[in-house]
Amino acid sequence: MVIVNMFQLGHIKLKWRLLVFPHCWMIADCRTSHAQLAGENGHPANSVAHNLAKYAATHGIAKQRFISDDESNRLPKVLTVTQELFSGFSIADFYPGLEWINSVTGLKKKLLKNLSDLRSVCDEIISEHMNRNKTVGSGGGHIPVPEREDFVDVLLRVQKAGDLEVPITDDNLKALVLDMFVAGTDTTSATLEWTFTELSRHPDIMKKAQEEVRNAVGPKGLVEINHLPQLNYMRAVMKETFRIHPPVPLLVPRESMEDCKIDGYDIPAKTRVLINTYDIGRDPSSWSNPHEFKPERFMVESGGRDIDVKGHQDFDLLPFGGGRRGCPGYSFALATIELTLARLMYHFDWSMPVGVRAEDVNLDEIFGLATRKKTALVLVPTINEDYICDIQGQGQ
Ligand code: HEM
Repeated sequence: MVIVNMFQLGHIKLKWRLLVFPHCWMIADCRTSHAQLAGENGHPANSVAHNLAKYAATHGIAKQRFISDDESNRLPKVLTVTQELFSGFSIADFYPGLEWINSVTGLKKKLLKNLSDLRSVCDEIISEHMNRNKTVGSGGGHIPVPEREDFVDVLLRVQKAGDLEVPITDDNLKALVLDMFVAGTDTTSATLEWTFTELSRHPDIMKKAQEEVRNAVGPKGLVEINHLPQLNYMRAVMKETFRIHPPVPLLVPRESMEDCKIDGYDIPAKTRVLINTYDIGRDPSSWSNPHEFKPERFMVESGGRDIDVKGHQDFDLLPFGGGRRGCPGYSFALATIELTLARLMYHFDWSMPVGVRAEDVNLDEIFGLATRKKTALVLVPTINEDYICDIQGQGQ
């Protein structure tokens, strides 16, 4: 509830500040990867979307750089284990009475170890923020505010201000940070990876979306938050990705509170209910040619519907679920994805590695915290010099 309040009431300029993830890193990473791989068998190839989205999400939450091969950074390693554990099978999910089997197989031990690792990483992150925040700000009774706040800074500030109806305890704070990392990173990166997957399979759509971004920003510029409202086609591409590849296809399980009847079936109270948004997104009674990737279905000027994805009014597209348990991070997620996507399309031309055809791209899925692509997306980013800006000092 606290999180919902913070996002919805615009407690702070959080939404926009969160998005100022390091633009320089993004460009630098693509440059490095390109340079490193360019010589490899003469076939430059790279998969960047995944790491960049995690960059964006983890930087927004706690200025954490998500680089999986950075030895000093424990967060990516711990989150990778969490993802693996989520994707594993547990019989107790289907037959709760058999929970004891998890102790025999060792799953319970692994889950507890992962939880304790996640907690200790969160502790480290929170103390780092507290120590850093002691050294900034004006003091004299004021709450120190770092120049660019991330989510943890905001939580600490709100906790200290103590003006919430329900105060945030230290335990609440830790749980919130943990929730954010677990719920907000894989979902965001999976969305970006699927979007790029579909764009690479549909070069005409990629071209149209890219032209839209480049026209909105102009040459040698930098995509900023204020450009996003103009990027209607790109937003339609993202919605179409949510429809075909919902990152959380069964949402979070619910339990029926009272007996009810759905489609002639009697559902007793206390039944576990899974909502299949994957099927809803491909239901032919809502969507024409549901298996076709067609962003125009969301463009009013092309005869489509401007569907809302927040679960407030349109229930045929529910990537963020809905109701009281709906995703509290949707506005952060949408802005993070749009900005990352726009920047990647603005600065780079993307192509398939030599010898790979659009129809070769593997669409197999793997289930975990988020449903992601089973095999990494491999694309060739080429920096387009007409759309590269002087990044010195931009977007720290
Ligand atoms: C594309 C990105 C994202 C997608 C698709 C997504 C999707 C979802 C979905 C489907 C749920 C369950 C909702 C329901 O069952 O009705 C959920 C819950 C949640 N999400 Fe997200 N999410 C995304 C990003 C984020 C981000 C960036 C954050 C935080 C920074 C976040 C925080 C949460 C939390 C804390 C919950 C649990 C809410 C609860 O059960 O109380 N999510 N998300």
